[in-house]
Amino acid sequence: MTEPVIAQKGPYAVDVVAGQDYFWCRCGRSQQQPFCDGSHKGSGLAPLKYHAERTETLYFCGCKHSHSPPCCDGTHKQLAD
Ligand code: FES
Repeated sequence: MTEPVIAQKGPYAVDVVAGQDYFWCRCGRSQQQPFCDGSHKGSGLAPLKYHAERTETLYFCGCKHSHSPPCCDGTHKQLAD
């Protein structure tokens, strides 16, 4: 299993729509953060599917180290520079 790369040290605010599925980039290599663009191939990591139950603003983890993926849990504040 490969370590994810840090896409950014902070979350991405996204307005999700009830009933829609989202595929959060786990590897950090996607060019369409915070979502998967297929760049994980060969990394040993795969995206995480998120099904939105409600229409709301969510904060998707950009550092890829959250303990509550796909959302930010503040772990990015503990990452070394
Ligand atoms: S951006 Fe990853 S925990 Fe906040």
